[in-house]
Amino acid sequence: MAHPILVLCLLAFSCILATAFESSPLQDFCVADTSTNAVHVNGLPCLDSKLTNANNFYFSGLHIAGNTSSSVGSKVSPVAIAQIPGLNTLGISLARIDYAPRGVVPPHTHPRASEILTVLKGKLYVGFVTSIPESRLISKVLQKGDVFVFPIGLPHFQQNVGNGNAASLSALTSQNPGVIIIANAVFGSHPPIAEDVLSKSFQLDKSVVSRLQTQF
Ligand SMILES: *[C@@H]1O[C@H](CO)[C@@H](O)[C@H](O)[C@H]1NC(C)=O
Repeated sequence: MAHPILVLCLLAFSCILATAFESSPLQDFCVADTSTNAVHVNGLPCLDSKLTNANNFYFSGLHIAGNTSSSVGSKVSPVAIAQIPGLNTLGISLARIDYAPRGVVPPHTHPRASEILTVLKGKLYVGFVTSIPESRLISKVLQKGDVFVFPIGLPHFQQNVGNGNAASLSALTSQNPGVIIIANAVFGSHPPIAEDVLSKSFQLDKSVVSRLQTQF
């Protein structure tokens, strides 16, 4: 039998770890009140709970395939705090992703969420890259019904490698996961990162950097 104090400490420690990112709410819910200009601290201010109704916890339309006719051949349909105000403070969200044949979700990271993805339709090549010094690519080809996890913060990608259209559903561990698409962040920031920085960083000729900058 473990000492009860030790058990308590272990429990308390695991609580600290578990709440390091998105803390457990101290009320049943805190439906986001998007009409106020109040200061936001880790979420949005709460609507008076007496004024809430089922629609604050509801979204419709995730059965509809997104329009994939973009340059990357994919469409992300998020269901996060912006779509469901009742997700405020709860630390979860969903996203449907549709892919044209060969379509990609380009390498990106979610600064505030781990992601668990399942393939609804088609075949996807997915992967993520670990931190330096390994910078190891961990990747797999997924079939319908397969599930894959992208750990928080790590750059990851998906590509439709099947013959027809593909679709996936992701759950994320944040009401507001955030997304940083690597190429857009590096070559498409506003204002742009100085050409010399990018030229040295990527070991590219400045003309190539300029061309990449115009594309993002
Ligand atoms: C999809 O988007 C493209 C470009 O934005 C548009 O031309 C096309 O009509 C859209 N298709 C559908 C089915 O909405």
